[in-house]
Amino acid sequence: MLVTGANGAGKTNLLESLHVGTQGFSPRTRVDAQLVRLGCEGARIALGGDRAGRPLLLELTVHAQQGKRAKLNGAALRSVEQLRSEVATLVFTPDRLVVVKGGPAARRAYFDRSLARVLPARAALPLEYAAAVGQRNAALRRAGGGLSGREAVEPWTHQVAALGAALVAARLETLGLLGPVFAERADELGLAEAALGYTGVPPTVAELDARLERDLERGTTGAGPHLDDVTVTSGPRELRSFGSQGEQRLAVLSLLLAEAEVLAELRGVFPLVLLDDVLSELDALRRRTLAERIGAVGQAIVTATGADALPLEPAQLLEVTPGAVSAG
Ligand SMILES: Nc1ncnc2c1ncn2[C@@H]1O[C@H](COP(=O)(O)OP(=O)(O)O)[C@@H](O)[C@H]1O
Ligand SMILES: [Mg+2]
Repeated sequence: MLVTGANGAGKTNLLESLHVGTQGFSPRTRVDAQLVRLGCEGARIALGGDRAGRPLLLELTVHAQQGKRAKLNGAALRSVEQLRSEVATLVFTPDRLVVVKGGPAARRAYFDRSLARVLPARAALPLEYAAAVGQRNAALRRAGGGLSGREAVEPWTHQVAALGAALVAARLETLGLLGPVFAERADELGLAEAALGYTGVPPTVAELDARLERDLERGTTGAGPHLDDVTVTSGPRELRSFGSQGEQRLAVLSLLLAEAEVLAELRGVFPLVLLDDVLSELDALRRRTLAERIGAVGQAIVTATGADALPLEPAQLLEVTPGAVSAG
């Protein structure tokens, strides 16, 4: 589906509302008040679609005071976070380049969300591990401040080692699934010998014990997958430091395509793919390659200022004007 409209017409708003309505959060901001129209008290997004042949109705409201609430087929969800386990939405916006060029934290967050979608049975691992690190850090600070003995840190050391090892294994498995498809899609888009790598090893109790003195001094756990990173390379070059903006964009797009394909093939989940402001930055050949690929992996919604930006005939053409969306 192609969404066209002049600059400032509301294309990004439309895609953002689809993301918020299906995932419960904006790809642009964590400040929910920004999702509400200026001068209004709340916002409501209602979406209808089908999932595996059955109708799916999603409704999400954002209120300045009451926060966010979501309903699925009329039934209230316990939290809007639940949406993420119901619908997979993959998004590209120019901000997403941060996945490749940003710091390790941005990459960890990105790949841990991929992990949750690709390996849904282990979706909770990143949060469980983070909680264990938080508990160990709190225990370190109590012991460091003389409020408890250092043996109080021990159970958390075991917990961090166990959950950390499970998290590293799940991340490696995720990268193992995404990596080969990523390399193929990147190659097609003109990024040669692209690869994903993982820097980090599973933490062990022995390793954590060996650094207990330092950890007590600093009050934080100085080893473990909360400090690991994913490398995105093309041949010998790490794209974070040595990739052009264009190459970084191709890498982010290839990651998205790879995940969409893995989800479709492995889990039979065809994600909703949202691509904002991507076409104008690609040359004609890459635009065609991308257009052919996205048509095959799920429902894709692409924005552009004009209909000629897409080299294929879209299944549906929408035109956005301020405050309105109409069939083009
Ligand atoms: N919370 C808000 N309340 C009212 N208007 C907003 C809000 N956030 C953004 N806008 C306005 O929405 C308009 C459409 O923006 P956008 O969707 O980014 O356009 P496009 O992607 O088509 O260029 C912009 O003029 C912007 O100032
Ligand atoms: Mg826009």
